[in-house]
Amino acid sequence: MEVVITSSAAASGALAADAIEALVRSKPAAVLGTATGSSPLPIYTELVRRHRDGTGPSYDEVQTFNLDEYVGLPVGHEQTYLATIHRELTDGLGLAEARVHGPDPAEDSIPTAGARYESLIADAGGVDLQLLGIGSDGHLAFNEPGSSLASRTRIKTLTKRTREDNARFFGSVDDVPVHVLTQGLGTILEARHLVLIASGSRKADAVAAAVEGPVSATCPASVLQLHPHATVLLDDAAAARLRRADYYREVYAAKPAWQGI
Ligand code: GLP
Repeated sequence: MEVVITSSAAASGALAADAIEALVRSKPAAVLGTATGSSPLPIYTELVRRHRDGTGPSYDEVQTFNLDEYVGLPVGHEQTYLATIHRELTDGLGLAEARVHGPDPAEDSIPTAGARYESLIADAGGVDLQLLGIGSDGHLAFNEPGSSLASRTRIKTLTKRTREDNARFFGSVDDVPVHVLTQGLGTILEARHLVLIASGSRKADAVAAAVEGPVSATCPASVLQLHPHATVLLDDAAAARLRRADYYREVYAAKPAWQGI
């Protein structure tokens, strides 16, 4: 796992944007795994800005797959993760609607939604680069603590803490759905490159557990330790509880620029 500590969330966002652009330049039909929440926003802002400025690559052949989706919101509700990723990223990059995917939360087909989504990802050739945030309790996508490290896409029940964390996007905590569909930790591990971005002191404990704690279902994000190409982008505040922070800084400072992340 590579840990990169930057001076700000915007600097982390620029590094991730560089990696995504390099991927799309070398593979125009790349498959991008997208995350929602506040953490990836600096990446999306940067990608859309560069695209509008005309310095970014063409995204015409790219496909995106969201990590997760709420169950129970009306179709098109502005807080569905599908509407969110359109608004924050894919509309700005000019992706056609059919290239932007998310788990299907229609209530009458939930039992098959996981397997259908996994097939869709496999048919696209698998995810090349998966963006990830981390929950304050260490959750990854919507895999709450206790999720199997081998789990596949399925329905999950959110913890009270996650619903409270996400209440800021809704009128109140009672409006946050209880159920979700989420890629499993086993599904996420199949992406070829994992890029987790976190900023702010609120994430420092979860980041320390994920990066330096034991690999454990108690901290779902610790599953990144099992992946051969995982990059963790942190600002100083999110990195504050890491015991080996100085070493990570040293390693990154010595890294040849051509390597990217
Ligand atoms: C949500 C999402 C996750 C996200 C996490 C952190 O519950 N399902 O994918 O990583 O919470 O969100 P934020 O980045 O807003 O702190």
